[in-house]
Amino acid sequence: MAQHSQCRSVLITGTNRGIGLGLVRGLAAASPSPELIIATCRYPDKAQELHQLCKQYRNIKILRLDVVSENSINEVVKEVEGIVGPQGLNCLINNAGINVLASLDEVTAETMLTVYKTNTVAQLMVSKAFLPLLRKAAQQSTGMGCHRAAIINMSSRSACMQFVDVNDLALGVYPYRIAKTALNMVTRCLAADLKSDGILCISLHPGWIQTDMGGKKAPLKIQDTIPSILSVLAQLGEKDNGSFLDWQGKTLPW
Ligand SMILES: NC(=O)c1ccc[n+]([C@@H]2O[C@H](COP(=O)([O-])OP(=O)(O)OC[C@H]3O[C@@H](n4cnc5c(N)ncnc54)[C@H](OP(=O)(O)O)[C@@H]3O)[C@@H](O)[C@H]2O)c1
Repeated sequence: MAQHSQCRSVLITGTNRGIGLGLVRGLAAASPSPELIIATCRYPDKAQELHQLCKQYRNIKILRLDVVSENSINEVVKEVEGIVGPQGLNCLINNAGINVLASLDEVTAETMLTVYKTNTVAQLMVSKAFLPLLRKAAQQSTGMGCHRAAIINMSSRSACMQFVDVNDLALGVYPYRIAKTALNMVTRCLAADLKSDGILCISLHPGWIQTDMGGKKAPLKIQDTIPSILSVLAQLGEKDNGSFLDWQGKTLPW
C-alpha cells in the first residue's frame, strides 16, 4: 500500500454508505494514508458512520455533494479548491450511483432518464467541473496514475455487452445496465481527451458486494474487496488509461 502516500488527495462521491463509505474507511486506515480524503455525500448531517470515521482519522473532510445538482457541484468545487490550493486534486472517484429495477415490461422513459442522469451524466459533469483541479495536480508530476491525476468511474460487470445472453440473470435492470454501458463510453472519451493533460481515466467494477444496492445474495462483503480495489488503484499506470478493470485488476470486455 506504500503507493498511497503518493496520492495526496482523493475525493469520493456517495460516501455515507456502501462501497463509498468502505473506500473512505480503507483509505483512512491504509498506511500510509492520503493526506486528504474528501468524503462527499448528499446529506452530511445524516451521515453518522462517516462522522464517526472523521473523529477517528484527521485526514477525512466531509463535504456536501448531490451529483445531479449543478449548484451543488459548483459549490463543492469552490470548497475543494480552497482546501487543496495550488496542489490541486489527485484522484476523483465517481462512486455515487442508483439502481432502479425494471424489466422490459416495467421500464419507462422516466426511469431510464432518472438512472441515466445519476449514473452517466453526473459522472461526466462532476469530472468536467473538477478538471481545473485535476489539471493543477497533473502539472506537478509525471507519468500516469493516482499519484498524479485520475478519474475512476464506478461501473459494473453488468454493463459488459459481451455478457448479455438468454441465461442472463440481470435482464431486469434495463436502466442500470444501459446507463453503466454509457458510463463506460464516458470513460473512453475522457481517457482519450485528457491523456495529453496527464489525467488517467478508467471504469472499475468493484465486485458484486453486499450493500443496499448489491443485496444480501452478493458473494462479497465490503471489507473483502476494498483492500484489493485500493491496491488496483495504487498500481494504475499509463497502460491502464481508458481500460475497464475489475476489483482484482482483471480487464473486462466492453
Ligand atoms: N454493490 C455492488 O454489488 C455493485 C456492483 C457493481 C457496481 N456497483 C457500483 O458501485 C457504486 C456504489 O454502489 P453501492 O453498492 O455502494 O450502492 P449503495 O449502497 O446503494 O450506495 C449508493 C451511494 O450513492 C449515493 N448517491 C445516490 N444518488 C446520489 C446523488 N444524486 N448524489 C450523491 N450521492 C448519491 C447514495 O447516497 P444516499 O444515501 O444519499 O442515497 C449512496 O451513498 C455504484 O456506482 C454502483 O453502481 C456496485
